[in-house]
Amino acid sequence: AYYTTIDKETCIACGVCGAYAPDIYDYDEEGIAFVLLDDNKGTIEIPEVLLEDMFAACDGCPTESVKVAELPFDKRTE
Ligand code: F3S
Repeated sequence: AYYTTIDKETCIACGVCGAYAPDIYDYDEEGIAFVLLDDNKGTIEIPEVLLEDMFAACDGCPTESVKVAELPFDKRTE
Protein backbone atom coordinates (compact mmCIF):
# COMPACT_ATOMS: atom_id res chain seq x y z
CA ALA A 1 0.00 0.00 0.00
CA TYR A 2 1.12 3.53 -0.69
CA TYR A 3 0.24 6.87 0.80
CA THR A 4 1.10 10.34 -0.38
CA THR A 5 1.15 13.86 0.91
CA ILE A 6 2.53 17.20 -0.24
CA ASP A 7 5.04 19.16 1.79
CA LYS A 8 3.31 22.50 1.41
CA GLU A 9 6.30 24.30 2.93
CA THR A 10 8.56 23.37 0.03
CA CYS A 11 6.04 23.22 -2.84
CA ILE A 12 6.70 26.05 -5.29
CA ALA A 13 3.38 25.67 -7.13
CA CYS A 14 5.07 24.41 -10.27
CA GLY A 15 2.05 22.35 -11.32
CA VAL A 16 3.79 19.13 -12.28
CA CYS A 17 2.08 16.83 -9.78
CA GLY A 18 -1.45 17.68 -10.82
CA ALA A 19 -0.50 17.36 -14.47
CA TYR A 20 0.71 13.80 -13.93
CA ALA A 21 -1.88 12.81 -11.36
CA PRO A 22 -4.99 15.00 -11.57
CA ASP A 23 -7.04 12.43 -9.63
CA ILE A 24 -4.69 12.68 -6.66
CA TYR A 25 -3.33 16.23 -6.50
CA ASP A 26 -5.05 19.57 -6.77
CA TYR A 27 -4.01 23.12 -5.89
CA ASP A 28 -5.15 25.65 -3.33
CA GLU A 29 -5.86 29.28 -4.22
CA GLU A 30 -2.12 30.03 -4.12
CA GLY A 31 -1.34 27.14 -6.46
CA ILE A 32 0.20 25.08 -3.69
CA ALA A 33 -0.55 21.41 -4.15
CA PHE A 34 -2.43 19.10 -1.80
CA VAL A 35 -3.81 15.57 -1.88
CA LEU A 36 -7.47 15.61 -2.89
CA LEU A 37 -8.29 12.19 -1.48
CA ASP A 38 -7.62 12.92 2.19
CA ASP A 39 -7.13 16.68 2.35
CA ASN A 40 -3.37 16.16 2.32
CA LYS A 41 -3.31 14.07 5.49
CA GLY A 42 -1.59 11.16 3.76
CA THR A 43 -3.82 8.66 5.49
CA ILE A 44 -5.81 7.21 2.57
CA GLU A 45 -4.38 4.30 0.63
CA ILE A 46 -3.85 5.35 -2.98
CA PRO A 47 -5.86 3.11 -5.33
CA GLU A 48 -3.80 0.71 -7.41
CA VAL A 49 -4.89 2.33 -10.69
CA LEU A 50 -3.46 5.68 -9.62
CA LEU A 51 -0.05 4.49 -8.44
CA GLU A 52 1.67 5.01 -11.76
CA ASP A 53 0.46 8.62 -11.83
CA MET A 54 1.53 9.10 -8.22
CA PHE A 55 5.08 7.91 -8.87
CA ALA A 56 5.33 10.08 -12.00
CA ALA A 57 4.31 13.10 -9.92
CA CYS A 58 6.78 12.15 -7.21
CA ASP A 59 9.63 11.79 -9.71
CA GLY A 60 8.62 14.95 -11.55
CA CYS A 61 8.39 17.37 -8.64
CA PRO A 62 11.41 19.69 -8.83
CA THR A 63 11.47 20.32 -5.09
CA GLU A 64 10.79 16.76 -3.87
CA SER A 65 7.63 17.99 -2.20
CA VAL A 66 5.58 15.00 -3.32
CA LYS A 67 6.07 12.57 -0.46
CA VAL A 68 5.32 8.87 -0.87
CA ALA A 69 5.44 6.22 1.85
CA GLU A 70 4.26 2.70 2.52
CA LEU A 71 2.66 3.68 5.81
CA PRO A 72 0.04 6.35 6.46
CA PHE A 73 1.74 9.65 7.28
CA ASP A 74 0.02 9.87 10.67
CA LYS A 75 1.59 6.53 11.62
CA ARG A 76 5.13 7.63 10.85
CA THR A 77 7.42 8.81 13.58
CA GLU A 78 9.71 11.12 11.61
FE1 F3S B 1 4.42 21.69 -5.83
FE2 F3S B 1 6.00 19.83 -6.63
FE3 F3S B 1 3.47 19.72 -7.22
S1 F3S B 1 6.50 21.95 -6.47
S2 F3S B 1 2.88 21.84 -7.42
S3 F3S B 1 4.36 19.61 -5.20
S4 F3S B 1 5.13 19.06 -8.50
